[in-house]
Amino acid sequence: MSYISVTGNRRLSGKVKIQGAKNSILPILSASLLCNSPCIIHNCPHITDVDACIKILRHLGCKVFWQEDTLLVDPTGIHCHEIPDDFMREMRSSIVFLGAVLSRCGKIAFSFPGGCELGPRPIDLHLSALAQMGVSVEDAHGRLFCQVDEKGLLGTEIVLPIPSVGATENIMIAAVTAKGKTVIRNAAREPEISDLACFLNACGARVSGYGEGTVIIEGVDRLHGCEHSVIPDRIVVSTYMAAVAMCGTDAVLEPIIPQHIYPTLPFFRQSGCRVSLRGNQLRIKAPQSLHPMKNVMTGYFPGFPTDAQPLLMAMATVANGTSIFVENIFENRYHHVHELSRLGAKIKIEGRMAVVEGAKTLSGTTVKASDLRGGAALVLAGLTAEGQTKIYHTDYIKRGYEDIVRDLSYLGADISMK
Ligand code: EPZ
Repeated sequence: MSYISVTGNRRLSGKVKIQGAKNSILPILSASLLCNSPCIIHNCPHITDVDACIKILRHLGCKVFWQEDTLLVDPTGIHCHEIPDDFMREMRSSIVFLGAVLSRCGKIAFSFPGGCELGPRPIDLHLSALAQMGVSVEDAHGRLFCQVDEKGLLGTEIVLPIPSVGATENIMIAAVTAKGKTVIRNAAREPEISDLACFLNACGARVSGYGEGTVIIEGVDRLHGCEHSVIPDRIVVSTYMAAVAMCGTDAVLEPIIPQHIYPTLPFFRQSGCRVSLRGNQLRIKAPQSLHPMKNVMTGYFPGFPTDAQPLLMAMATVANGTSIFVENIFENRYHHVHELSRLGAKIKIEGRMAVVEGAKTLSGTTVKASDLRGGAALVLAGLTAEGQTKIYHTDYIKRGYEDIVRDLSYLGADISMK
């Protein structure tokens, strides 16, 4: 079984390029199904979640080709509305195809994406919103059959009880060619929502208000293909910022979009890092030793992103003092704590709260990733641990990082895939 081997205590510095955003490209690839001509999508990350997405697109009848970091998607040959069970299980985010297949084919058959390492991943908000737009849902032993009624998809006002990213995306995609206007209140504001809206508008849709919590979509007859470039991955930025903060001297990350980094910036500065943003470039200088971070509470954008929680927790394990984390988004997003403790981290969990006592040093050992960002946190901890750390179950990490070994090697880490 392959593993990542890291030998700690190397100082990191240099420059690293940031890949396109995983949580942008996935809904954009789904939305491309609505177009009546091909799409050209630049800055696509070569990650296994994108591979899984391409498999679904091809299964539905699309032609999809890579050209370096560009994906060419020709959705004109769609002939299927069913997503096989194993495809749904391969990628939790396959639920993002719901609105697109319904809008294109008028029906969809798929299985519950199921829970994942972060706890139950319900889709009740997706289904209730689509039902308000004229979709009937039938649940037959874990397989879901959704059908648009004879009047077609109708625009309406939808008030989300929580600003769910996936539900906002599915409603936007279903609404762009629905009859009439759709208003999504308490919509998610993540940058990936705005990136999806820009892609849809480039395809001829009429989406406004995105990023502000109320998204308005005026239905149009059809969408045409477009050319779009995916935004940089803000969570990959946090990952490499944390790596430099823990081991580095200083490094330059680009491209970045400053507004996407603001929710994490106060915590990096609290830890003693000096961070400067200039245009699409971020420079981070590490302190001699990290200060603790108080009250790192995850929340919906523009709050602190839940996906960065494991990464800053890795930082906290070697800070000088006590850091406090509160995970408000997912029920079960502390799997990395057990594995960090095997490296010598001192972490106590009390419900949604995690109290981290910084340790002088960590000691390398064998650990196992159990989710994407938790796996990345183990790699970060290995960078500072004495001796060698082996991180197994690297498939989780490949879901969201093009090549974490390559990127950290560029910064001078002693790291390899075995
Ligand atoms: C998206 O997941 C991201 N995934 C997640 O990144 C991210 O952590 C999350 O948003 C929060 O920012 C993608 O974009 C592919 P939600 P999503 O719907 O859409 C509850 C990663 O590794 N909820 O905003 O699934 C849900 O249980 C992943 O990159 C319902 O109750 O997140 C959670 O507690 C991890 N009913 C909360 O809302 C629903 O119908 C937020 O979930 C839907 C969600």
